[in-house]
Amino acid sequence: MQYVKLGATGLDVSRICLGCMSYGDPARGNHEWTLDEDTARPFFRAAIEAGVTFFDTANVYSDGSSEEITGRALAEFAQRDEIVLATKVHGRMRPGPNGGGLSRKVILAEIDASLRRLGTDYVDLYQIHRFDPGTPLEETLEALHDVVKAGKARYLGASSMYAWQFAKALFLADAHGWTRFVSMQNHYNLIYREEEREMLGLCADQGIGVIPWSPLARGRLTRPWDETTARSESDQFGRTLYADGDRRIVEEVAHIAAARAIPPAQVALAWLLAQPGVTAPIIGATRLTHLDDALASLEVTLTADEIAQLEAPYTPHRTAGFQ
Ligand SMILES: NC(=O)c1ccc[n+]([C@@H]2O[C@H](COP(=O)([O-])OP(=O)(O)OC[C@H]3O[C@@H](n4cnc5c(N)ncnc54)[C@H](OP(=O)(O)O)[C@@H]3O)[C@@H](O)[C@H]2O)c1
Repeated sequence: MQYVKLGATGLDVSRICLGCMSYGDPARGNHEWTLDEDTARPFFRAAIEAGVTFFDTANVYSDGSSEEITGRALAEFAQRDEIVLATKVHGRMRPGPNGGGLSRKVILAEIDASLRRLGTDYVDLYQIHRFDPGTPLEETLEALHDVVKAGKARYLGASSMYAWQFAKALFLADAHGWTRFVSMQNHYNLIYREEEREMLGLCADQGIGVIPWSPLARGRLTRPWDETTARSESDQFGRTLYADGDRRIVEEVAHIAAARAIPPAQVALAWLLAQPGVTAPIIGATRLTHLDDALASLEVTLTADEIAQLEAPYTPHRTAGFQ
């Protein structure tokens, strides 16, 4: 395993982060494709044995059950000090007032609920899952700072939003002496590269670690365009992110993979790992071979020609994934 610093911090993270959205009670929340606890446990064990130390979940995944499964599995297979545990806040946890968003009330309640479900007294990285236009940014930032000062989070991170919103958050935190975000968890992969316009430049300039979500475009980069899986058939959110024109990129990935006699997933992840500023992709694995491919991608170095071929079919997309 390779380890790198998360942005400008001193925090070491593995270059592969295991996304724990794949693990949760299928009867809870709206991801009916998730793996239940018994099926999920071997993924944590295998990841830890391979040197993965970085794990990402969210309060909202499978209605909190992803955090519960993640917390129990990590307690069983790892030492708390050796892992970097990340979770998120913003998603709606219940109907009605104050059931979601980034108000002070929600953040202070949700960090405690996440810690309870994770079975730990701190998370390493506490991330805002989205921007909340309904709450003054100062209120959110001060509440997050208080979470850090209370010892409940070591670092703060953010996820998909417009670059101007993230820039405003960074500069407001500096102006008030509040804890700054150190990472950006954004949607970035071979078929969605709009982050290259503004966000990646901002992150490089500000020393922000970049930890892309859905690095394999939720599986689309791993198989023929028209092939479906249980997950892809029920993936409503995924349908909003990609367009039919993206199939040419997927064909190019398959072409290079065939020439190298490796699975397409390894090619697509190797491309992402080669992008400047990318700290660690947050991968999704619903079979153990998916994890194996993610680990193997660390050993794949694409040539400049291969990278040019992979990038050539890209056409600009409307911004998506911010909701
Ligand atoms: N911040 C956010 O808003 C946000 C949004 C989404 C995700 N996330 C984070 O990012 C993590 C990863 O997201 P993701 O699951 O969408 O990532 P992904 O890596 O793009 O997609 C994972 C899916 O790709 C397929 N796959 C992966 N490796 C494969 C291989 N080697 N061969 C064939 N198929 C393969 C599987 O699809 P099938 O299961 O269909 O076979 C798997 O479920 C999540 O767990 C979560 O932590 C964050």
